[in-house]
Amino acid sequence: MKQYRPTIYQDLDPSPRLLMGPGPVDVYPRVLRAMSAPMLGQFDPEFTEYMNETMALYRQIYRTDNDWTFLVNGTARAGIEACLGSLVAKGDRVLVPIFGRFGHLLTEICQRVGGEIATMETEWGTVFEINEIAEAIGKHQPKVVAMVHGDTSTTTVQPLEGLGAICRETNALLYVDATATLGGMPVEVDAWQLDAVSAGLQKCMSGPPGSSPVTIGERALEKISRRKHIEGGLRPTDYVASDGPAISSNYLDMGMLMDYWSPLRLNHHTESTSMLYAARETARVVLDEGLESGFVRHEQASCALRAGLRAMDLELFGEQAHRMTNVTGVHIPQACGDGEQVRTQMLNDFGIEIGTSFGHLAGKIWRIGTMGYVCRKPNILRSLNALEAVLRRNGFDTPKNAGVDAAYEVYDE
Ligand SMILES: Cc1ncc(COP(=O)(O)O)c(C=O)c1O
Repeated sequence: MKQYRPTIYQDLDPSPRLLMGPGPVDVYPRVLRAMSAPMLGQFDPEFTEYMNETMALYRQIYRTDNDWTFLVNGTARAGIEACLGSLVAKGDRVLVPIFGRFGHLLTEICQRVGGEIATMETEWGTVFEINEIAEAIGKHQPKVVAMVHGDTSTTTVQPLEGLGAICRETNALLYVDATATLGGMPVEVDAWQLDAVSAGLQKCMSGPPGSSPVTIGERALEKISRRKHIEGGLRPTDYVASDGPAISSNYLDMGMLMDYWSPLRLNHHTESTSMLYAARETARVVLDEGLESGFVRHEQASCALRAGLRAMDLELFGEQAHRMTNVTGVHIPQACGDGEQVRTQMLNDFGIEIGTSFGHLAGKIWRIGTMGYVCRKPNILRSLNALEAVLRRNGFDTPKNAGVDAAYEVYDE
């Protein structure tokens, strides 16, 4: 039988103490209030105005002028599938540079739509030099390069500057999965010349899972337009189908999604009303704090956390020059076995959840998230304090108070 877990309810009404210090303190009440607003019809002018506002808000968050910046219903994976399923046609060559679990996800999605995939891999915890990717692009001549920005499985972030220009030279489209970085680290869609990007709400954006903000540039739009088919029963009398292959998913067909989000408002799915309210409010909360202030908050928390972990004689995982600021990987010390008992005690005794990883890193590293509204000083200090106590109970001798003291030093700088 499933046990009642009071922490879930505490999360919905977080103690003000958990929200001390700079950061979006009011995200939960604001988003929950927004989600409980009365549902409007999907063509109600008030609702379509909210859609337009949401597009404008996410343009700011993605730092883009792309008209086509909108929401796909579903978690981040829905946005990935909508982008890749619409950009990759059967037989299209795709290059996927893989530096963690989510690169494998992009590969799998491209395979399922019939792409001819070339992959390149680097050891988990490291990332690629841009010229390595450029070389692979030269070799494989892909139509699409699909790349994760921050791979949460390895806690590393791939620098993207320069990659967009290389893709343009070779006429490849560049898709980026920014699920784990949007709102926490810069995602410069226009400056980095990214053609299509998707994300989710539940990570650094501090929102609920279930809506995926996407942005589509002119070059990607061209490809989608060449594959555009309007479903039977909706076609205008003068409709001429485009000559490209139809996108295989109906629900995640970018062409039809755009027709619904455009002034045409051509009927497609029924928009998830409450999720749209949530996505809109989440974006407003993030922009109220200020994107740059949010990035600084994530960076500072991550520095403090890493300083604390090091001072506790733990070894950080991955290339530190390419670490994400919103999740930190740390080797599980030998004394703690696969680390599961530590995770359980952290959760049950202190109400703090830390993760392990996937694949060959499962049971080898812990991943400690500092994402979104929880990423603030009291939570960093509490987590280090709790971890010290739990580690000691599990036979890992860590110096007393060293973690919290080191984190304090970072915050005092
Ligand atoms: C980089 C990355 N991409 C994609 C996903 C999948 O997101 P979702 O579970 O919202 O579909 C995740 C989730 O952790 C992620 O970290």
